[in-house]
Amino acid sequence: MSKIIVKQAKKLKGKIRVPGDKSISHRAVMLGALAEGETVVNNFLMSGDCLATAECLRKMGIEILESRELKVESGKLVIKGKGLQGLSKPAGILDVGNSGTTIRILSGILAGQPFETTITGDDSIQKRPMRRIAEPLRRMGARVEGKGKGEDIYPPLLISGGKLRPIGYKLPMASAQVKSCVLLAGLFAEGETTVIEPAPSRDHTERMLSYLGVPLKRFKDQIALTGKVPFEGRDIDVPGDISSAAYFMVAGLLVPDSEIILREVGTNPTRTGILEVLHRMGANLEVVDEEILSGEPRANLKVKSQKLKVKSIEMGGELIPKIIDEIPILAVLATQAEGTTIIKDAKELRVKESDRIKTISTELRKMGAKIEEKEDGMIISGPVKLKGAAVQSYGDHRVAMSLVVAGLVAEGETIIEDTDCIETSFPGFEGILRNLS
Ligand code: S3P
Repeated sequence: MSKIIVKQAKKLKGKIRVPGDKSISHRAVMLGALAEGETVVNNFLMSGDCLATAECLRKMGIEILESRELKVESGKLVIKGKGLQGLSKPAGILDVGNSGTTIRILSGILAGQPFETTITGDDSIQKRPMRRIAEPLRRMGARVEGKGKGEDIYPPLLISGGKLRPIGYKLPMASAQVKSCVLLAGLFAEGETTVIEPAPSRDHTERMLSYLGVPLKRFKDQIALTGKVPFEGRDIDVPGDISSAAYFMVAGLLVPDSEIILREVGTNPTRTGILEVLHRMGANLEVVDEEILSGEPRANLKVKSQKLKVKSIEMGGELIPKIIDEIPILAVLATQAEGTTIIKDAKELRVKESDRIKTISTELRKMGAKIEEKEDGMIISGPVKLKGAAVQSYGDHRVAMSLVVAGLVAEGETIIEDTDCIETSFPGFEGILRNLS
């Protein structure tokens, strides 16, 4: 198991490009496979999670070519789409590795196939709740079975699809994975499938479907898609992942004498909660040169170290789905903010790659942080002087990277154990960081 050793940093300076967006990369392979003809994906994230999605589609007969530029963690993917009826029964079990997005969204596609599939992943995946996708897919007419435990079901999932009917589905939680699962199943149902969201979650699926010409209407909290309409492949340019950029935004603010420019980062408004939070905390951050490519906005972000302490704020309600993956790194920032930071309405964190409320609180406390865990969030008091310690990631990439950033501001040396998991979303993270210091 690998580890990262970090010492307190004196400055971080430079221009960087973070790898391609994970959510968009997943969707690009899945929709490219269902499109007719070729889709070229530029800046595809070559990480464990996204390559697992590509591998699942290869197992169902889709030809996908990869080319990587030297030392770049994003590359070009050429997908030879076979249309809505083009997938074939895989020879074995589909393995998503650590990727919750793959299992939840791909299940929507599997539900529309005239064959039975088993899909599973690593130990962490086998603990992730799946009733949230099984319920709507069953209502559409698919059979979805999993390992039962209490009220929920867990992978391996056995999905036997076939003729699906369109439904109107009110999501019980703001989840882009569940929303996307239902919408992709809707591609295989004759007529209009409608999803209603309790709060806006990331809308990359909707944007990409529209970009590819699938009839999709949006009105307030409703999204309606017409199924059984073939669409053609089209080139997709993936922006940098704002969730990966977040580690450098926070590091740039906290490490004295820092100035980091993050180039071509995705600024989709359903993902920019982190920018809103940082502005509210009084941070020194600029968003410049915004443009739209392949239906998704992107911009350059400029971060400078913060002379004054950042202010604590309260985060909850509709903001939470927009910062859901950034909460571990925001917890690190909150340890350095003046006052009490309250994070609430974020119970979903308990069912991510790890129970992120517990894991990030436990490990930051080892470094001296003052954090109280709540069922749906955390209360963090700051500022505290963090001290280097031996901490662990629990195999969770976002916890690992957040602890590395905590190590940059802590006195002495921090050893983060079990850091291989970083590869699932941000290959090259350590190299980029070392080049800045
Ligand atoms: C994702 C949606 C989010 C997020 C995950 C990626 C996606 O999960 O946490 O990392 O690509 O749709 P939920 O939709 O379950 O909140």
